[in-house]
Amino acid sequence: MGALTEDMKNRIRAFLPKYPRKQAVTLPALHLVHDELRTVSNEAIVEIAEILELHPSEVQDTMTFYEFYKGEGQKNGKTRLWVCRGLACMLRGAYELIEHCESKLGVKCGHTTEDGTITLEFAECIGACDGAPACMREDVHVMNVTPEKADALITELKLK
Ligand code: FES
Repeated sequence: MGALTEDMKNRIRAFLPKYPRKQAVTLPALHLVHDELRTVSNEAIVEIAEILELHPSEVQDTMTFYEFYKGEGQKNGKTRLWVCRGLACMLRGAYELIEHCESKLGVKCGHTTEDGTITLEFAECIGACDGAPACMREDVHVMNVTPEKADALITELKLK
């Protein structure tokens, strides 16, 4: 049994007519697999490459270039929580907020809680500077984050 289900393979194949070249489907395919499996294993990379008629190293290169994806041996939690450490957020306490979240979750940035619920990440600017310090849960902004607000957010995410 491979890493990708038949349904996932078919959904990747469905992208093909929408793009000028098969290689252009690499990112959508990586997103699809990453969303479904919360990781892109080496086996998944090979299977994506087969569908797109690429060498696995081409898929791997694209994947590692973006630093967004978790690869072999790493896995995202159910929710990804990003804490911004860009300039505006840094000036308004982002580093303290990151330390607070790391301590509350018991993991360093880039890692997933033991119960698999939350992956803590840092971001460079999430486009919410007017609400600094800011976080992002998956793709939703949370603005003016205090340690108390972060605690409430973490509790909510763990109950999801
Ligand atoms: S610097 Fe944090 S949102 Fe822009």
